[in-house]
Amino acid sequence: MQKTLGTYGAVDESRELTDKRQALEAVRERIEKELVCPLKDAAKNIVFGKGNPDASIMFIGEAPGEKEDLQGVPFVGAAGKQLDSLLQSIGMTLDDAYIANILKYRPPGNRDPQPDEIARHTPYLIEQIEIIKPKVIATLGNFSTKFVLARFKVAGMKGIQGVSQLHGKPVEVSTSNAMFTVIPLYHPAAMLYRPQLREILHEDFQIMKQYL
Ligand code: URA
Repeated sequence: MQKTLGTYGAVDESRELTDKRQALEAVRERIEKELVCPLKDAAKNIVFGKGNPDASIMFIGEAPGEKEDLQGVPFVGAAGKQLDSLLQSIGMTLDDAYIANILKYRPPGNRDPQPDEIARHTPYLIEQIEIIKPKVIATLGNFSTKFVLARFKVAGMKGIQGVSQLHGKPVEVSTSNAMFTVIPLYHPAAMLYRPQLREILHEDFQIMKQYL
């Protein structure tokens, strides 16, 4: 499910991958250096992203939790286990995806992201998207779905709805420098306290697979 190779095959591919890794690393370093946000002072680690920068699909979650903050890696706790099993159910691994969050530092007690935090952190998320150039962006939960659809001003949508109305319904995004499909999904952590969402998430992952 990785992108197809260019005319010159593996040589182009690996150079592109190295460039992407370097560009992502530069963004990560800039966040550590220049982002001003109280969350940063309270957090143990930056949680920037994981996976394959050359993947066709990018998942965007909400914010790091306790385990993510400790390890500096997104989706390594309970929600991560759910995401891993959903990926497995469609024959994918972390090698086929890149995963990042709206917020790069953990909000205290896992509270919801605040508008000013979203405004400070998401310019870096946009840079991640621009570097990775995914074919599909899967938004996990309400914050991610609303941010991505509002940011890319999806035509024809009356206001920005929530994930309960939009889940599993692909939305095409076309801007002057990007074209991708957004697939809103329930957040995998929601399966933990609403087991009835398990089947819906599995169905939506099957839909998502068709767009890769
Ligand atoms: N939930 C998220 O949205 N992101 C993580 O990294 C972990 C849990």
